[in-house]
Amino acid sequence: MALILGIESSCDETAAALVTSARAILAQRIASQDEAHRPYGGVVPEIAARAHAERLAPLIEATLADAGKTLDDVDAIAATAGPGLIGGVMVGLVTGKALSMASGKPLIAINHLEGHALSPRLADPQLAFPYALLLVSGGHCQILRVEGVGTYTRLATTIDDALGEAFDKTAKILGLGYPGGPKVERLAQEGDANAVPLPRPLLGSAEPHFSFAGLKSAVLRAKDSGQYRDADIAASFQKAAIDCIIDRLKRALEKMDEVTALVVAGGVAANKAMRAALESLAETEGLPFIAPPLTLCTDNAAMIAWAGAERHAQGQSDPLDFAARPRWPLDPDAEPVRGAGVKA
Ligand code: KG4
Ligand code: ZN
Repeated sequence: MALILGIESSCDETAAALVTSARAILAQRIASQDEAHRPYGGVVPEIAARAHAERLAPLIEATLADAGKTLDDVDAIAATAGPGLIGGVMVGLVTGKALSMASGKPLIAINHLEGHALSPRLADPQLAFPYALLLVSGGHCQILRVEGVGTYTRLATTIDDALGEAFDKTAKILGLGYPGGPKVERLAQEGDANAVPLPRPLLGSAEPHFSFAGLKSAVLRAKDSGQYRDADIAASFQKAAIDCIIDRLKRALEKMDEVTALVVAGGVAANKAMRAALESLAETEGLPFIAPPLTLCTDNAAMIAWAGAERHAQGQSDPLDFAARPRWPLDPDAEPVRGAGVKA
């Protein structure tokens, strides 16, 4: 059995975890930076990087202490090496390299998206490759066929905003503050999802891609009109977003070779209304539905340690000059999509 130390610092969570190859999370700590970013209504990269630099080393020390372990007990050090806010990524990756040098244990550079993509396998030992994955976070909105560790086929991505971003922007428009996703979900529970007519961008289109920019603009117009209750806007937005997700996923599943399960991961996977909709889609499709527990959905280091455990089991490690990557697609062969930060 191998023991992996995981380090995560790609956005605004500073996190460390100790996970075994037998799927035991021995310890994990997460320091949220919500307070530091709240006045700005979003993550400020410079503030995030500085906070990671201050907090990460003591956090790792405390995580080891929680489990009664030292670096001697660890078999490999897995650190997020991208994609993400580059200052923060560098703090975590360089810390991982320094610990690797000092301990003589191998470094494993982890793609943050792979951490999310494999996290359901940490929670569920039965989950076998290949599975269909909806990866929905603050920065990403993709449908992938997860074929193995390091082997992903991307069927869809967003041509503008990520789903989490749309939730965060809606929260901002409604004055709910930061971070927005959970607040929109809470307010939506008090609203009527049919009260505000909102668009469902790309619904029914042949390629299973996503678009949320138009939905966000419609939310802004609804708010500015003064005609609707905030709770009704939140509920109608959430319903429209979920309708888009389900329609696009159905299309992707039609195009996808056989899979063992429908799986959701990433921060937005914490949304209970979306989970319920996905569960019923999976039932219709005759697939088991797998979602990691909420604590494994949003950014955390256990998923990074687990991705490290999967790679370590295959004998993989990375050199100490591994570069931090602000962009790092899971499927480098996927066709660039018009609008997705790509000049068409
Ligand atoms: O995976 P994650 O923690 O960080 C990234 O890698 O982006 O995802 C964070 C995103 C944020 O946009 C946040 O608003 C969203 O996930 N989120 C939610 C919920 N919880 C977190 N969105 C909708 N409903 C939620 N309950
Ligand atoms: Zn994430």
